[in-house]
Amino acid sequence: MTNVDKDPIEAFRQEVVDTVSSYADEKEWRDLTHEWTKHALSKRYVYNFSSFGRPIIQFPTDMVAFQEIVWEVKPDLIIETGIAHGGSLIQSAALMANLDYCEAVQSNSVLDPSKSNRKVLGIDIDIRKHNRQEIEAHPFSHLIQMIEGSSVDSDIISEVRSVASEYQKILVCLDSNHTHEHVYEELKAYAPLTSKDSYCIVFDTVVEDMPDDFYPDRPWGPANSPKSAVYQYLDELEQSAHLGADGEKLLFENNQMIEDKLFFTVNPNGFLKRV
Ligand SMILES: C[S@@+](CC[C@H](N)C(=O)[O-])C[C@H]1O[C@@H](n2cnc3c(N)ncnc32)[C@H](O)[C@@H]1O
Repeated sequence: MTNVDKDPIEAFRQEVVDTVSSYADEKEWRDLTHEWTKHALSKRYVYNFSSFGRPIIQFPTDMVAFQEIVWEVKPDLIIETGIAHGGSLIQSAALMANLDYCEAVQSNSVLDPSKSNRKVLGIDIDIRKHNRQEIEAHPFSHLIQMIEGSSVDSDIISEVRSVASEYQKILVCLDSNHTHEHVYEELKAYAPLTSKDSYCIVFDTVVEDMPDDFYPDRPWGPANSPKSAVYQYLDELEQSAHLGADGEKLLFENNQMIEDKLFFTVNPNGFLKRV
């Protein structure tokens, strides 16, 4: 079948795949991207944006990728470690509210936000008073539950697991403390909650690719980063069988297509799709 005979929607989708695949040899572009990312991170660029009024600590490109993932997965629960100012929680809640809206339109029913079956569950060791107030006063707050405590504390993990047991399609985002040990513990605790065909997104894997002295006032850096934790965790899943919370075999693949098309991402090798 030629492109002309194809369904135009499928033809365009394929065109994008082909375009992104053609970037495989773009070494110079990748090197420029690496330099740009390093410069941007050193200039606090990542702090410049907001989501529906709350500051979010992300690259705009990663916000677009997240929107695409939420639309693809259509989760009923998003679990996020690392709340900070609340921007990522509000972004998730806004996307969940949009899913509710779309479902109401498609099923010809009246949308009642108070009856949503969706939730965004945020965990942070330190939820500042002003951030909590702003999040709780936000129009999307009906979709948000916050837990204060360390994401690797066993009581917190039990609480999250108990909430998760009420949901069917779960998306996980890990964006708290970026040391290897912490992210590895978070992966062990929360990655098994990820539903099949959904994602466990590990943020700031880019720490691994920065120079040794890039984070002088932080405990993380190359070889002690979210990416090194991802490698260890995925390796262990390969070596011996692990089960997800649903009792099915737990395996993840990095969705390379996402970072290949974004170029600018703080999550290289961090878009883990449960397969
Ligand atoms: C990078 S910020 C989160 C950014 C947020 N996800 C966003 O996109 O706007 C990291 C957050 O992790 C929190 N944090 C640090 N250690 C933690 C831990 N052990 N458990 C849970 N949260 C932690 C910090 O308090 C901080 O608010």
